[in-house]
Amino acid sequence: MSLWRTKSLEFLEAEANSGTQKLERSLGAMSLILLGIGAIIGAGLFSITGIAAAENAGPAIVISFLLASIGCAFAGLCFSELSSMIPIAGGAYTYTYATLGEFVAWIIGWALILEYAAGAAVVAISWSAYVVSFLHDFNIHLPAALSASPWQPTHLPDGTEIHGFINLPPLLIISLLSILLIGGIDKSAKVNAVLVAIKVAVVLIFIAVGFQYINPDNYEPFIPPNTGTFGEFGWSGILRASGIVFLAYIGFDAVSTAAQEVKNPQKDLPIGIIGSLGVCTILYVFFALILVGLVHYSKLNVAAPVAQAINQTPYLWLNGLIKLAIISGLTSVILVLLLGQSRIFFTMSKDGLLPPVFSLVHSRFHTPWVSNLVLMAVVGIFAAFAPLSLVGHLTSIGTLLAFTIVCASVIVLRKTHPDLKRPFKTPFVPLVPILGIVTCLILMLSLGWATWARLTIWVLIGLVVYFLYGKHNSHLARPR
Ligand code: ALA
Repeated sequence: MSLWRTKSLEFLEAEANSGTQKLERSLGAMSLILLGIGAIIGAGLFSITGIAAAENAGPAIVISFLLASIGCAFAGLCFSELSSMIPIAGGAYTYTYATLGEFVAWIIGWALILEYAAGAAVVAISWSAYVVSFLHDFNIHLPAALSASPWQPTHLPDGTEIHGFINLPPLLIISLLSILLIGGIDKSAKVNAVLVAIKVAVVLIFIAVGFQYINPDNYEPFIPPNTGTFGEFGWSGILRASGIVFLAYIGFDAVSTAAQEVKNPQKDLPIGIIGSLGVCTILYVFFALILVGLVHYSKLNVAAPVAQAINQTPYLWLNGLIKLAIISGLTSVILVLLLGQSRIFFTMSKDGLLPPVFSLVHSRFHTPWVSNLVLMAVVGIFAAFAPLSLVGHLTSIGTLLAFTIVCASVIVLRKTHPDLKRPFKTPFVPLVPILGIVTCLILMLSLGWATWARLTIWVLIGLVVYFLYGKHNSHLARPR
């Protein structure tokens, strides 16, 4: 049936290297690791860790980070195998098109909008809160009406609640970054490298300084007893917190969406994916250990837990610097998520599942500029009005759905194309992909029914779009 039609790998490869609509190959392994870290360390670590510790896991948030990283590691190994054998822009969407068919690929592509476009909006809203607070410290007060969503008051990192009419800072940063992206991927990669250096430095400074002022009493009890409600402390709390801090790992797969811009994709993509994931896991575990060691977990329910922790040390002057570094860290996350989304649209459009304008490449900059402009408008306006609470967990569940299908794809491809060259092989197949699927499903289940309901509505909208447009315009339906 046409829903299950797949693209042959040979066709994908030929298509990627043909015609004038070609992206420029300029990225190496190091740029990819930095791109990965650029997308990974952000709001999840700097804003959500404290809240998940205070409400769900206590000091055992460290275990939650480890659990989430295990799920990501399984998925990361699967991503590496697929990205090395199908090094084409579009990441998980493309792999699925070649394995499980067009219909599942569309669902993945649609779910990835939650990861990249909605994720960029979530982080831009968090960025806005930090910028408003940073300016506040210098007695520059942005009018509340112009710096918060009308549907959700924003809590500044210092706890103040502001009600607004439109949240302009996210619109501003999304516009600036979109223009940067249109200007070329090599320029974007350079800016990203600087932003990554700043945020990694801050995490390392925090670990080095905080280590000396840990109060061991804060680790007692390491796993606070469950309150009687699922997800509030105890092991169920650790699990729920894993689902929540999973957001902190989102982004390592963004590396694979830029496959067509990598000089040596077969070798460099696995290095980029596993490398960035590994570096971030180590940093996260130490960061969380120090955070809950400096401040009792019950006091971490704030948007800027880092500032709270620094207040326990004599280095109060670090606070301003850290806020600035967090702002640059969040900037790079938005940059890479917008980059990933534009590349997925590019590929879906080349397949005919989205209108052709999304795959127009700028003649001078070699970037999919129309995709970037559309995203600038849609994500920018969405972030200017959206209530954060509505989209936060949706980003995580959409990503987990995509990861689950990627793990399944590895098993399917090993059966359907056993002889294809696999420059990187996932170890212990099918065990590792199965463990990946199980871990992702457990994390999805931990996110609660309301998030599932929103995911279902989103997928239903996607089905309508597919049956009205993609199914008939797919290039597999009408070969050009
Ligand atoms: N991993 C990204 C962040 O935490 C999405 O901001």
